[in-house]
Amino acid sequence: MHRFLPAGALLLALNAAAQAAEPPAPRRVELVRMVRQDCGSCHGLRLTGGLGPALTPEALAGKPVEFLAATIYRGRPATPMPPWQAMLSEDEASWIATQLLAGFPEEPPGRTR
Ligand code: HEC
Repeated sequence: MHRFLPAGALLLALNAAAQAAEPPAPRRVELVRMVRQDCGSCHGLRLTGGLGPALTPEALAGKPVEFLAATIYRGRPATPMPPWQAMLSEDEASWIATQLLAGFPEEPPGRTR
């Protein structure tokens, strides 16, 4: 697992985030858990909506991945949607947005591949 990119160099490059490399598998597990638990507290345990809107592929259809990634990374000012830039790299936010558009993975029951 030596594939961490120098994310700081890319912080302003939203287009680069859209083409982001996948995070390494152990980090993907952490990200899935975080989305299911932390994001689920607002967006619903099934991501079908709660305080925040549904994050299902149906609900997000047609929204650009860059837009969704920016929402996750920077939050939406004047709404309850907080920024996650302290917890995530921009590439990771982009990966989450891509997974949401495709149908977010379940948390694995045990160890990962
Ligand atoms: C404190 C509650 C809260 C938490 C926690 C939260 N969100 Fe949100 N989120 C919201 C709200 C409210 C909105 C709608 C903002 C608006 O009115 O535009 C939103 C909007 C979004 C959108 C845009 C949806 C769209 O249709 O445009 C995405 C994507 C999103 N959140 C992802 C996440 C992810 C991923 C996490 C966890 C890393 C997360 N959110 C955590 C409240 C939350």
